[in-house]
Amino acid sequence: MKRKILLLLVLGQVLYIGSVAGQKMIYKDSEASVEARVKDLVSRMNLEEKILQLNQWVSGRNLNPNNVGKVVQNIPAGLGSIIYQNDNPIARNQIQKNSMENSRLGIPMLFGFDVIHGFRTVYPISLAQACSWNPDLVTKACAVAAKEAKLSGIDWTFSPMIDIARDGRWGRVAEGYGEDPYTNGVFGSASVKGYQGENLSDPYSIASCLKHFVGYGESEGGRDYHYSDISRQSLWETYLVPYEACIKAGAVTVMASFNDISGIPATANYYTLTEILKERWGFDGFVVSDWNAIDQLIDQGFASDRKEAGYKAFMSGLEMDMKDNVYLDNLAELVAEGKIPMEKIDDAVSRVLRIKFRLGLFDQPYTPVVDEQSRYLQPESRAIANKLAAESMVLLKNDAQTLPLSKSFKQIALVGPMVKNKESLIGAWATLSKADDAETIFEGLNNEFGNSVVFNYAKGCDFDGNDESGFKEALEAAQKSEIILVCLGEKKEWSGENASRSSIALPDVQEKLVEALAQTGKPIVLILSNGRPLELNRLEPLSDAILEIWQPGVAGGSALAGILSGKINPSGKLAITFPLTSGQIPIYYNMRQSARPLQGKYQDISTEPLYWFGHGLSYTAYKYNNIKLSATKIRKDEKLTAEVEVTNTGALGGKEAVLWFISDPAASITRPMKELKYFEKKEINAGEKMLYRFEIDPMRDLSFPDADGKKHLESGDFYLIVNNQKVKFELVD
Ligand code: NOJ
Repeated sequence: MKRKILLLLVLGQVLYIGSVAGQKMIYKDSEASVEARVKDLVSRMNLEEKILQLNQWVSGRNLNPNNVGKVVQNIPAGLGSIIYQNDNPIARNQIQKNSMENSRLGIPMLFGFDVIHGFRTVYPISLAQACSWNPDLVTKACAVAAKEAKLSGIDWTFSPMIDIARDGRWGRVAEGYGEDPYTNGVFGSASVKGYQGENLSDPYSIASCLKHFVGYGESEGGRDYHYSDISRQSLWETYLVPYEACIKAGAVTVMASFNDISGIPATANYYTLTEILKERWGFDGFVVSDWNAIDQLIDQGFASDRKEAGYKAFMSGLEMDMKDNVYLDNLAELVAEGKIPMEKIDDAVSRVLRIKFRLGLFDQPYTPVVDEQSRYLQPESRAIANKLAAESMVLLKNDAQTLPLSKSFKQIALVGPMVKNKESLIGAWATLSKADDAETIFEGLNNEFGNSVVFNYAKGCDFDGNDESGFKEALEAAQKSEIILVCLGEKKEWSGENASRSSIALPDVQEKLVEALAQTGKPIVLILSNGRPLELNRLEPLSDAILEIWQPGVAGGSALAGILSGKINPSGKLAITFPLTSGQIPIYYNMRQSARPLQGKYQDISTEPLYWFGHGLSYTAYKYNNIKLSATKIRKDEKLTAEVEVTNTGALGGKEAVLWFISDPAASITRPMKELKYFEKKEINAGEKMLYRFEIDPMRDLSFPDADGKKHLESGDFYLIVNNQKVKFELVD
């Protein structure tokens, strides 16, 4: 393979020197437009050089256990991209130098990496971020990640993931923004803005990649990589929604997903990759495959060999082959056979080059070398991670104002496998993170409370297994204390890719620990760190308060401590429903109405989940005044303004997110019972009030797509729903 590439390059070099003498190289002119530069460069490239641009290899240590592959030592100059599993800017610059100086046309390489929820300043997982309802904060966090990554040699992150996930058994539910299409669109766009900045060529901007296109979250039974049966109606009204929003927000690349969408795998799906993404939405960036996904078309039963797999993927609109070398090995032959037209190759190459030009890589191919101390974990970066962690945490239960912890407590039991754990706080998919960067719950609490409280620590048990020998020590710690903080949750490896669980309950041993502690009669505060919604029906009755802290990242310990002490008033609300049991899955707020709303209930358990999407308590109380509408009847070309005044009636300042839902009770295609259309979070001081406003644009907020994406706006009654209030208005022609 290496010899073949070398030969082609030498041949190319010779032909090139002969042909361009004296010509003006538009593509090298930084004053020329991106399109002129792309056109000029493509016109100078030979087929082999073009095909090289459509391939991505892997360099460095293999940091992802699911991406098992040979580590490549010698990267050919002129390759399209590499996954740079490293944070060394000097090594990157060497690889880049090779590409700039030893490829015939001096084309820079694109360095990609999974920067998912932070690079070294790890902030909460995406599912948690969505619970903050604070997209501006997410933009800031992503900008920190982009800067750290850029200074480590990365130009392109495989993020954000905006897969709607309604099955908590799927490990990747941690990586997206929950169950709602609109929420995923807003947070995905916020993250694109953070990574890409104002301008892609700014010194600290990196390209984003929307993934996984599309419907990956629908994998059957929550089993990763499995089949997904998605009707065209669901595709349009649910799965495509955040992608369209994030394309509009300027995302420049897209990753095709692993799943088979009702018989046509996403990696070779012409309808999604070409018709929708490029023809209808006008996307001019490129699509990269997921790891091994072109080869996997054979396993999925969609191609009989690599050549056919490459042909089908390429012709469907997939421009870059991640790691498989299917394109490298087969595209030239397919062109020679007349099966793939040269215009199609040119279009694919232009898409890749366009992004390289926009990133400014031709004009500034190298990363500035800055030492690690000034690159990572800067105080202002940690402060953002801390704020986001605090705003992401959700107070699920707080009977008798158990929290914040009373100032009178002198002895507090601190029990559970999460108390001193760093890895799980950092969470899934943070491959270049360092566990030691994280502050544990133990450290966070001791720093916050200082000498005023003694924390009686006992691990109690591990995350799983049957060992109950630590219960005794935990009970002793509890006996000495006035209140028990039990810190439970999931191991880091239990969420993320290839990390499905058949049940979303915590392992028995953790539940038994709480049962034992409950025997003491002391109040129990359950603190949960996990990457998915959990089944809490046995733990909830044993707990006086429950705080969901997710996988909060490096600043999780101090953010949690601030909430427990009362310095921070919790303001998170769930972006995903917590089912009562795993058997209720799928359960999500925007379900369709059943034919018999009063029947069809489970015989054995309640049909209601434990906590709905949007649930989250505060230490203060908010009173919502009546919703005011600017009219009760509007025409389709008019706008309607809705306002609600919210008063903080408690003694503590706080932040309240107002979620505005629309319900369309009768339509030519049935609608979900309600759909989130807008949200806003504002700070309200104690005793003060704030006005929240939502301007309803009928075409945007009241229409719905049909099974081919055509939007329909139908007259009739609608309801606006905010925090248990429901007001009716009418849309007329
Ligand atoms: C496989 C994962 O599905 C994807 O999310 C990730 O970006 C790639 N591997 C590259 O690591």
